[in-house]
Amino acid sequence: MRHFLQETDVALPELGGLFARARDFKRNRGQPGAAPLAGQTWAMIFSKASTRTRVSFEVAIRELGGNALFLNQHDIQLGRGESIEDTARVMSRFVHGLIVRTFDHRDVERLAAAGTVPVINGLTDFLHPCQIYSDALALAERWTSGPDLPAALRGRKIAFFGDTACNMANSWILGANHFGMKIALAGPAGFARGAEIQALLARSGHAGAYQFTTDPYEAARGADVVYTDVWVSMGKEAEGGARARTLAPYAVTAKLFAAAKPDALFMHCLPAHPGEEVAPEVLANPRSIIFDQAENRLHMQKAILALLADAARRP
Ligand code: CP
Ligand code: NVA
Repeated sequence: MRHFLQETDVALPELGGLFARARDFKRNRGQPGAAPLAGQTWAMIFSKASTRTRVSFEVAIRELGGNALFLNQHDIQLGRGESIEDTARVMSRFVHGLIVRTFDHRDVERLAAAGTVPVINGLTDFLHPCQIYSDALALAERWTSGPDLPAALRGRKIAFFGDTACNMANSWILGANHFGMKIALAGPAGFARGAEIQALLARSGHAGAYQFTTDPYEAARGADVVYTDVWVSMGKEAEGGARARTLAPYAVTAKLFAAAKPDALFMHCLPAHPGEEVAPEVLANPRSIIFDQAENRLHMQKAILALLADAARRP
């Protein structure tokens, strides 16, 4: 069974087709067309809050002809201790696919291993691959009007600031390596990336190139993309005050943004905290593409859903 748990779950030769399909979904939205999820129900098991992921998946599934079933972890027996494996086996008897947002990344891997339907990672503490693919589409759309969207990403540099130990940073390390981009991360010394992402890069067949620096201006130099995320990810609320003090030098200010290339784009997965990890004027800059990123969640996730549904139908 095919899943989408991490950036490398779409093979390099498939990237062009996936991106083109997402762009077609975007261009043809509202037109009568194929319904690759016709007759299917996909369940969404969420253990954390969500605006973009929940709404974009629910709309995507419906527009592809399927039904979306939203389940808060606490509404189902999983929240009372039923095992992940039994949950996966039971859900596989009812639905055609699962989208999961949770804490421990191993939980989505266990669901995928025990069930018999496709599983999509809707964010874990470790990775957020749907966001990275939607972001990559937004970048490719800016950088090419040609047919080969992923080719437009190759050789470009992304600079990530702030909580360089969070899911978005991990996912961009993996995504940048997969897409052939360069990545520099700037954060406090204690936030340097560790063994877990290096092991995943090695398992995924990537050399694992990325730069980590404590100097934000060094990371910004030559960057095509300036990216940041919240300082306090879901589940880290108890560390809030200390994180704000430690991460303050890595806020994306207008000055830091200006240290990247003159045509650099600003990105943020949202939700943002203006005045914390990013200055309000950077969010509002004409080169900020935060709402294109958010919109592309819908179009890219349609392409991912269709890819997995097609694979699941094959004998
Ligand atoms: N960017 C993102 O995943 O947003 P939500 O938490 O609102 O789903
Ligand atoms: N790092 C953030 C991303 C939210 C989309 C979090 O995990 O809360």
